[in-house]
Amino acid sequence: MAKAKTIYFCSNCGHQSGKWIGKCPSCGEWNTFEEEVISKPTKKDAGNIKLIKSVPTAVQDISSGNEKRINTNSIELNRVLGGGLVLGSVVLIGGEPGIGKSTLLLQVALNMVGKKILYISGEESQQQIKMRADRIGIQNVECYLLNETFTDSIFKHSKNVKPDLIVIDSIQTLHTDIIDSSPGSISQIRETASQLQRYAKSSNIPVLLIGHITKDGNLAGPKVLEHMVDTVLQFEGDRHYGFRILRSVKNRFGSTSELGIYEMQSNGLREVLNPSEILLSNRDEIASGVAIAAMVEGQRPLLIETQALISTAAFGTPQRSSTGFDLRRLNMLLAVLEKRSGFRISSKDVFLNIAGGLKVDDPAIDIAVAAAIISSLEDVEIPPNICFAGEIGLSGEIRTVSHVENRISEAEKLGFEKIILSKYSLKNISKKSYKIEIIPVRKVRDLVEVLL
Ligand code: TYD
Ligand code: MG
Repeated sequence: MAKAKTIYFCSNCGHQSGKWIGKCPSCGEWNTFEEEVISKPTKKDAGNIKLIKSVPTAVQDISSGNEKRINTNSIELNRVLGGGLVLGSVVLIGGEPGIGKSTLLLQVALNMVGKKILYISGEESQQQIKMRADRIGIQNVECYLLNETFTDSIFKHSKNVKPDLIVIDSIQTLHTDIIDSSPGSISQIRETASQLQRYAKSSNIPVLLIGHITKDGNLAGPKVLEHMVDTVLQFEGDRHYGFRILRSVKNRFGSTSELGIYEMQSNGLREVLNPSEILLSNRDEIASGVAIAAMVEGQRPLLIETQALISTAAFGTPQRSSTGFDLRRLNMLLAVLEKRSGFRISSKDVFLNIAGGLKVDDPAIDIAVAAAIISSLEDVEIPPNICFAGEIGLSGEIRTVSHVENRISEAEKLGFEKIILSKYSLKNISKKSYKIEIIPVRKVRDLVEVLL
């Protein structure tokens, strides 16, 4: 055993220091240093995992060959990973408690027929996992469940089972005896993650790792955890709605603009291959204050409903409330509408809602939001066959957005007859190649004219 030592770690960035300091010299945060007892690894401890030796090689002599990937049998997960799981890679999946991380990975493990999976949980017993597996449906009989939190035992079991994939739920429960501090502490997370990383690289077995998220939405544990793994995926969504989005935040083997959409059901997560159809809620009856935005999330076009309700404020200070859309951006749009087209909104309550519980940060939704507000304010309905895509600037100009062609084709595919776009979006597009009517607008004033 080694000599124990006290070290202070910054809980924000993982910077370490021999004594307590008020301000972290690395990330500049105040009051983030926490004391942890660690013992330095002895030679014996450190020698547990062998590293592959590398020698300097001329770049032209290295064969480029694509990384070997294994198919996860899940279209959405494959897409987000950039075409499958790369051998020897470590993928971290973060998300709030209860969002469905364990369900997602257990489902992946149970669906990978023909592959041997070692599913290790430090959070739930084998019986609990089995109950969940029964609910989801077991297709892969070669899925081994293990209750273990000690990394050395995990590596030992892995040697016996020889899996094609290791799933660990979660990094915060793991511990190693090299370090004395409790599981979930910064130094434990750092050390166990680096052991896993070395194990994955030396054995070529990919590791899917679950990580918890703190109150403010960051992955618990230091930022170094994100640097250590190859891929970071974020699982998010509103818990009261069925939709879940799997987003890639970092990917050494693919693009980070990909996105997978799931729906939580009583028998696990269902992959949503055509999201627009679900997001456009029951629209038999048209009402004022509803506008459809042609959005793009990641690389995928999505048509989504925005709803606004404007009413006379009952109290002195009008309320502004927004679900799924940035409140500051809503305030900005209201100010632009007031200043540039003369609507009197400052004395009104404004409520805005994005259907399906999704959070939207594509700026192309701006004109749909503005249209929904104008529609509710003037009490005129927007015909259900129109959709919108464009960003609104401070001077009331309507700016072009990315992926214009994708948006137009998706709207056309879903049977929309008109799409309202920025005039500047039409530069590289021939209107004639689409059946859908394209209506260009330059200013918010033009938008008002089209609507009223
Ligand atoms: P879980 O996967 O345990 O979330 P996490 O690991 O991210 O904390 O939990 C998911 C929630 O999903 C839980 O509240 C129950 C629900 N659920 C379903 O609705 N259907 C299912 O088939 C399963 C397995 C869970
Ligand atoms: Mg869980």
